[in-house]
Amino acid sequence: MTDSIDIAVIPVAGHGTRLLPATKSQPKEMLSVGRKPVVQYVVEELAHSGIRRMLFVTSRGKHSIESHFDIDESLTHYLRSTGREELLADLAFERESIEYFYTRQRRQLGLGHAVLCAESLIRDQPFVVALGDSIIGVHAQSDIVERMKRLFCREQVDAVVAFEEVPEEEVYRYGIAQPKDGEGDVFELADVIEKPPISEAPSRLAVAARYVFSPRIFAMLHATPPGKGGEIQLTDAIRLLIRRGHRCLGVRLGPHEPRFDIGNFESYFQTFVDFALADPQYGTALREYLATKLSSGDSRASRSPTDSE
Ligand code: UTP
Repeated sequence: MTDSIDIAVIPVAGHGTRLLPATKSQPKEMLSVGRKPVVQYVVEELAHSGIRRMLFVTSRGKHSIESHFDIDESLTHYLRSTGREELLADLAFERESIEYFYTRQRRQLGLGHAVLCAESLIRDQPFVVALGDSIIGVHAQSDIVERMKRLFCREQVDAVVAFEEVPEEEVYRYGIAQPKDGEGDVFELADVIEKPPISEAPSRLAVAARYVFSPRIFAMLHATPPGKGGEIQLTDAIRLLIRRGHRCLGVRLGPHEPRFDIGNFESYFQTFVDFALADPQYGTALREYLATKLSSGDSRASRSPTDSE
């Protein structure tokens, strides 16, 4: 039954302004974390959870995402003809039995609007939404989407949303769950409050980049009035689902599947370091390098880029 949910919408159309200038002419979703671009981890995680159709919502300047998932025969031939077959393993993801679809969000009017751009392709089937700038679990070793799909089918609800417990000081940055009763691993949502001050936050459970929806979400998105900057927020559409009496469930990410959101430099740098340290070939040497550098108080480690030479 859960295999019937085999399509994911992956919104990758945002401007990525918080990562300028890195994102001036390349998508933030293509920034490298360790050895791979962020969006490759997202696709691998989804494939691991039975998703076979990836529908990207793209925009101007995002062509490199499409190229990344193409089969590059000339590169394969080049590696073979120059005796570097061992590198072909790094391109194995190209040959996965996955179908890729691309549609455009012609104006960046928010995440909810990006999901709405997929409506005529999704039509009347349940589907997953996975944000293209967030990885779940180190090296995307998470089956959260599989668990969410199972719950969605078993409970016959209209939405299942992933949540991660965040520290108090970060609550104001996220959509925060108001569970109906109790904050177990799975809970019914009474509401989702967008970016509340900690004094008004009903929990510390923050929306975490993975969703399963019935097609009813599209009607809610159509009925959601645009907010600041004309943007349509996905969280507002989920609130509307709940208000109209449709059941929505929350699922907590487990302790071994942290969410890595690379949308700002602080978390991008941290994510890169975590993944590089977990690299099977280079992780140990990097750990030693960092330990030596930090213990020696090497001035290059703490010098600001604006310090004069
Ligand atoms: P963000 O909320 O981080 O927005 O998007 P953003 O525009 O990319 O980044 P900033 O705030 O300017 O730095 C979360 C995910 O939703 C997609 C993004 O590409 C990202 O993967 N998104 C966001 C869209 O596809 N369309 C939008 O209009 C907004």
